Amino acid sequence: MVANPFDLSGKVAVVTGGGTGLGKGMAAGLAGAGAMVVLAGRRRDVVESAAADIRATGGTAEGVFVDVTRIQGLPAFFDGILDRHGGLDILVNNAGTNRRNPALEYTEQDWDTVVNLNLKAVFFCCQAAARIMKERGGGKIINTASLSSAIASTNQSAYSPSKAGVRMLTMQLALELAPYRINVNAIGPGWFRTPLNDDLFRNEAWARGATALIPWGRTGTPEDLAGAAVFLASRASDYVTGQVIYVDGGMLAGYKVRPIAADET
Ligand SMILES: NC(=O)c1ccc[n+]([C@@H]2O[C@H](COP(=O)([O-])OP(=O)(O)OC[C@H]3O[C@@H](n4cnc5c(N)ncnc54)[C@H](OP(=O)(O)O)[C@@H]3O)[C@@H](O)[C@H]2O)c1
Repeated sequence: MVANPFDLSGKVAVVTGGGTGLGKGMAAGLAGAGAMVVLAGRRRDVVESAAADIRATGGTAEGVFVDVTRIQGLPAFFDGILDRHGGLDILVNNAGTNRRNPALEYTEQDWDTVVNLNLKAVFFCCQAAARIMKERGGGKIINTASLSSAIASTNQSAYSPSKAGVRMLTMQLALELAPYRINVNAIGPGWFRTPLNDDLFRNEAWARGATALIPWGRTGTPEDLAGAAVFLASRASDYVTGQVIYVDGGMLAGYKVRPIAADET
């Protein structure tokens, strides 16, 4: 008998933005594989409710407040998890946002909102968690990239560069943290209907056009990310670092035309 390489029993995982959308799906996947999962976000009721959903299915989870853009508070946030749960083995940097506006109308506030959350906060979460993981002999960091890490889309002057930055940050930290046995990888989701893009999906013509670009013939569901998250969080991926796994129904592989714009039908 070979031990299950995907088993996360005894591991402590943190998922930022774990209360909704893709983070909630990845958190449920990690809990299903045996990890104790901390779901963190700004709305306490949302993360607590998502944690309760996991506990209702037999998993172990807690919902906690964090605003990851408050950089100075991040070391105390991660130290608190270590103190409460005796470990910090897995970090999923999932919290993210978008501002969709034409490039010529893009404001400084749009830019700062997106880049501060999607890139700056990701780096400082990695740094604070990695300092703890180094002392503990290793860990797993999973960043949330995007198709936008690889391709440009209309009206995404900050989002696409921020996600391209996440890809390079993943490679950069994989290099620097390998000596401490900390794996740094990313998941690149394709199109998933979540609160982040629900306004686009409400336009049925737009949704049909977007779906037509996906070889698998449908958009993703948060559960579709669970397998990649468990793989990258587990010892099954111990020799994998600096990679982006695109979970996109083949969209990037089949990408031949520019993406449909937010205001096109
Ligand atoms: N949906 C897609 O098709 C898609 C595709 C590619 C990549 N992604 C990426 O997937 C990730 C999750 O997005 P989603 O689609 O699941 O959208 P979502 O449901 O809006 O998730 C974003 C999460 O981030 C949290 N968050 C926002 N600001 C935060 C802050 N300052 N501190 C802590 N948490 C914060 C939000 O909770 P609070 O507001 O309560 O803090 C929310 O739970 C993002 O990085 C996004 O770029 C999504």
